[in-house]
Amino acid sequence: MMDSICHPKEQTPLQAPSSSATRRPPGPPRGIPGRHLFAFRRDPLCYLQQMASTYGDIVHLPFGRRPVFFFNHPDFIREILVTRHRSFGKGQWSQLGRLVLGDGLLTSEGALHARGRRLLKAAFDRAYLAGYAQSMVNEAARWAEQWPHGSEMDMAQEMARLTLLIAGNAFLGVDLRSDLDAIQQALEDLLSLFDPLLPPLIELAPWLSLPSPRRLHQAQAQLNAVVERTVQSHRQNSACKDLLSLLIAGQAKGECTLDEDAVCSHALTILLAGHETMASALTWTWWLLSQHPRVEARLQAELDAVLDGYLPGPDALPYLRYTRMVLAEALRLYPPIWLIAREAVEDVVIGGYGVPAGATVLVSQWVMHRDPRYYPVPDAFQPVRWKSGGPDVRPQYAYFPFGGGPRACIGAPFAWTEGVLLLATIAQRRRFRMMSDQAVVPDPRVTLRPRGGLAMRVEERARGRRPREG
Ligand code: HEM
Repeated sequence: MMDSICHPKEQTPLQAPSSSATRRPPGPPRGIPGRHLFAFRRDPLCYLQQMASTYGDIVHLPFGRRPVFFFNHPDFIREILVTRHRSFGKGQWSQLGRLVLGDGLLTSEGALHARGRRLLKAAFDRAYLAGYAQSMVNEAARWAEQWPHGSEMDMAQEMARLTLLIAGNAFLGVDLRSDLDAIQQALEDLLSLFDPLLPPLIELAPWLSLPSPRRLHQAQAQLNAVVERTVQSHRQNSACKDLLSLLIAGQAKGECTLDEDAVCSHALTILLAGHETMASALTWTWWLLSQHPRVEARLQAELDAVLDGYLPGPDALPYLRYTRMVLAEALRLYPPIWLIAREAVEDVVIGGYGVPAGATVLVSQWVMHRDPRYYPVPDAFQPVRWKSGGPDVRPQYAYFPFGGGPRACIGAPFAWTEGVLLLATIAQRRRFRMMSDQAVVPDPRVTLRPRGGLAMRVEERARGRRPREG
């Protein structure tokens, strides 16, 4: 059962009055100081949806001293993330992030970011993806087997464990199994620093209860120890074929000028970014499938027809079309990254309105992906929306689960591969049902998670034939 979600009213058409560069876009009156910031903090998804449906494509949010603009049209999203990306930086959020993650890809800016991006890109090339695929499938199959019919689990927790194991293997070439719980807790502690600091709330930082520095230091020390240990062992073993080994090999050949700290920052960032988002995406997908048995049956029919009982490999990916559509639709309805913020580094005009240097700019996947202008019956889970071959009337940035432009998700090809292969491997063997009529409420933290986890019961898939290993 899904808790009620705000339903936007009919949208106003795209408005971009050319003469308004010096005026503020529409938005709610300021009212009692802090009222809007606190309304946002209480329920950001609902708040942003209401703002978009009431005020249209560009909204001025009266959050505090610093102007905040919320853009809600695919053309403006493209301008902010792609065509005018130079006018925007990551601002205070990345300064804070750097304290925790160092100068990894998520938090670095400018030339440092561009260099890191070039270095890491090679690791996500197709050839490497194929190499990662087999270990993903083996891990997922092992995971599914450990849950017999009738067992009960927290799906959110389990997906976090599974994707962390896979990320450790693919990116660091290390088996994290023996200290999985401790590492997961440490990553969770690091992420919790960002939770109260959703970008527009950064002004409130002095008044919010932040995690204790001691807990953060402990988490950092624990993760750094794992990463540093792994870097050392990679230096002694040049046969490794993972992301970390590419960074180290480049360093050894003098191709890359990363120092030891930078290598560790990149490795930690990828571990964090690469498992947390995937865990969210898969958790929501299992929940959606449990609520839509017809979609689930069609998915299983595709798996039986394409795989014929064998485990999937990378060569099956082009044929698992419906599986990919299921994932695409889950990413639409429950985008793991539901909000992107930028800070204007210079005065810029977007949609006819002047955005002054220092202003915060927000775009939201959650709001855009549920916009009835682009998605008929937007709250419905309909994977067939993504059937290719029909006329694609949707503008590109009406769907942007992986962001866009030079800061788009570098792991997107990995995520599609992992998502489809994990879904296929697990759905071949198991299905999941909610344990109760528990209301499932999205909890918009750094990523979108079900509040309080997702208690599910495992069912062995009833079908004619058990999957064969292959
Ligand atoms: C379903 C899974 C995923 C989703 C929805 C997702 C989403 C995103 C989004 C929206 C951004 C852009 C943030 C911004 O513009 O501020 C991003 C950036 C990033 N993602 Fe992902 N991601 C996913 C999986 C992954 C994976 C598997 C990895 C690692 C292998 C990864 C690593 C990164 C990194 C390093 C960045 C920063 C890129 C940069 O700033 O240059 N992500 N991700």
